[in-house]
Amino acid sequence: MSKKIAILPGDGIGTEIVAEAIKLLDCLNQDFGLDAELETAAIGGAAYDESGRPLPDSTLALCKQADAILMGSVGAPQYESLDRETRPEWGLLQLRASLELFSNLRPAMLYPQLVNASSLKPELVSGLDIMIVRELTGGIYFGEPRGIRTLESGEREGFNTLVYAEHEIDRIARSAFDIAMLRNRKLCSVDKANVLEVSELWREVVKDVAREYPEVELSHLYVDNASMQLVRAPKQFDVIVTGNMFGDILSDTAAMLTGSIGMLPSASLDKNGKGLYEPIHGSAPDIAGKSIANPLATILSVAMMLRYSLEQTELANFVDVAVGNVLNQGFRTADIADGTNSVSTSDMGDAVVAALRALNDS
Ligand code: IPM
Ligand code: MG
Repeated sequence: MSKKIAILPGDGIGTEIVAEAIKLLDCLNQDFGLDAELETAAIGGAAYDESGRPLPDSTLALCKQADAILMGSVGAPQYESLDRETRPEWGLLQLRASLELFSNLRPAMLYPQLVNASSLKPELVSGLDIMIVRELTGGIYFGEPRGIRTLESGEREGFNTLVYAEHEIDRIARSAFDIAMLRNRKLCSVDKANVLEVSELWREVVKDVAREYPEVELSHLYVDNASMQLVRAPKQFDVIVTGNMFGDILSDTAAMLTGSIGMLPSASLDKNGKGLYEPIHGSAPDIAGKSIANPLATILSVAMMLRYSLEQTELANFVDVAVGNVLNQGFRTADIADGTNSVSTSDMGDAVVAALRALNDS
């Protein structure tokens, strides 16, 4: 049965990298029997320019109908002074919240071909394969009250609320335990329970859920220590589960261990496995329009989409293998080039499509 994929290129390099993912999807449709219909819509600054809103109703309606969503990235400097609710990032946050995409999977895995691109010593990172499970629709990103108020003294005060209800902790913990069961069965929950009540509850609920997963080895770390351990000895981790803001920060750190944030995909899933797929990097306004961005994170996001939302595990494996093969063939965009020759965004996309076709022929 035909599946519908909503395509949201967004801002900055978003349009360039998504164009390469579309080439890949077209190839999967033509040569590999993927029966997917693609429909494009605006989000972020691009949507604001068209309609004055970063998440137009028509885009949200399309995303609701679709089986999966592929996004590029949102944000650009010219929108930074807009009111919060018209900023590009708000569109993305509203999309995550409206579709209840609470479970954000951010793998950080190092391709052996790129071991020298990491800022850490090869022996610390070779073979690295971590999955960060970040809670995505709660915590301080969405907690109320929030705002900036003026006190009686005339001084202004900014405030946000870090709040997690038990059911929110329970469902993200289950998501993480389920993933750990499919991997090396080690889960580290990251919190700040030595200071925050919300973390105390987080820890308690995670421990309760752990009773149902006796095969998973559960540990707990405070977030400051976790950030240190990630750069000290990252291979100690298998799956990490944490709240929205801690996950935002730790996943950027983990990404850098692998050499380039340009290599890492993500999936944001609801309780039924419907998902939004996006590279974890941002819109990179400094390199937008230059055709030097790395499209592999977006292409690998398509692989995650095939795996988690479209039930096409075999095609997902093909895409992963094709990406490995282009790296073996020496194709590198500037971010992973290590001082040697680099190829353009579209050359890299073409190389992946060619590698994919070669798999079909072999
Ligand atoms: C991310 C980004 C977003 C976030 C921004 C763009 C709102 O940093 O996906 O990690 O903070 O969640
Ligand atoms: Mg982030």
